[in-house]
Amino acid sequence: MDQHSMQNGRTDWRNRIYCEDALHGLARIPDGAIDLIVADPPYGLGKDYGNDSDKLDADAYLRWMQHWVDAALPKLKPSGSLYIFLTWRYAPEIFVMLKQRMTMMNEIIWDRRVPSMGGSTRSFSSVHDTIGFFVRQKGYYFDLDAIRIPYDAETKKARSRSIFVGSKWLELGYNPKDVWSVSRLHREHRERADHPTQKPLEIVERMVKASCPPGGVVLDPFMGSGTTAVAARRCGRDYVGFELNTEYCEIIEQRLAALGGDACGYGQTALAL
Ligand SMILES: C[S@@+](CC[C@H](N)C(=O)[O-])C[C@H]1O[C@@H](n2cnc3c(N)ncnc32)[C@H](O)[C@@H]1O
Repeated sequence: MDQHSMQNGRTDWRNRIYCEDALHGLARIPDGAIDLIVADPPYGLGKDYGNDSDKLDADAYLRWMQHWVDAALPKLKPSGSLYIFLTWRYAPEIFVMLKQRMTMMNEIIWDRRVPSMGGSTRSFSSVHDTIGFFVRQKGYYFDLDAIRIPYDAETKKARSRSIFVGSKWLELGYNPKDVWSVSRLHREHRERADHPTQKPLEIVERMVKASCPPGGVVLDPFMGSGTTAVAARRCGRDYVGFELNTEYCEIIEQRLAALGGDACGYGQTALAL
């Protein structure tokens, strides 16, 4: 697609996964077209994605992070948001960099529910991911009702006194907190694809429902096994994304093809703490 047609409202980039470098591919998307970016970049920890993308030294890694962030952020609408998965190792530097460009709303801790077996012996075992939630401006889209957590029957019963009857908050459920306790996808998990750092749909669907309006479009520059695309489709949103590894691109295609009429099925129960 040429630059002219890209800027002229063409939408043939929607609902596509491009098996290419995000830094190159982001030019396909017109500025201001995206409602939500869900970014799960390499962590700078040397993981093997079948390519060298996670093999940079610290300085080069941080420069690369800044590079793609500067290519991706103009794609967001003014009401748009960004969620970014990080680990404790580089979250401080990356949060500082992002805070120079956006408003930080939350640091979300994803407790991966790692069982207590061995672990670090000279420090504390790390069992969480750090997720940054950033927005472009004050009027950002955020649908709290879509992600409220219903009170269980016991709590509702305990609040059965007349002063609580008909209370909106009791019926709608409570606001999610910033610690999300969701099991990582262990080998036998039914969602598990052949990708080393696949994220649970439960987590990404919550981001999509909260921060992308129905019919809107979610961009994931680092699709991996395609969790963001699957979450977007299940929740009635469009997607676009990039992935370097051709084998992962095939996995994404297979996951999308297997979807059928699946709909958003999470976010209202297990995330409760
Ligand atoms: C942390 S994983 C994403 C996992 C994904 N969220 C999931 O649930 O499966 C990061 C992915 O980014 C891909 N990647 C790394 N550098 C890239 C680049 N420059 N452009 C596109 N993809 C890239 C890697 O191959 C890897 O699959």
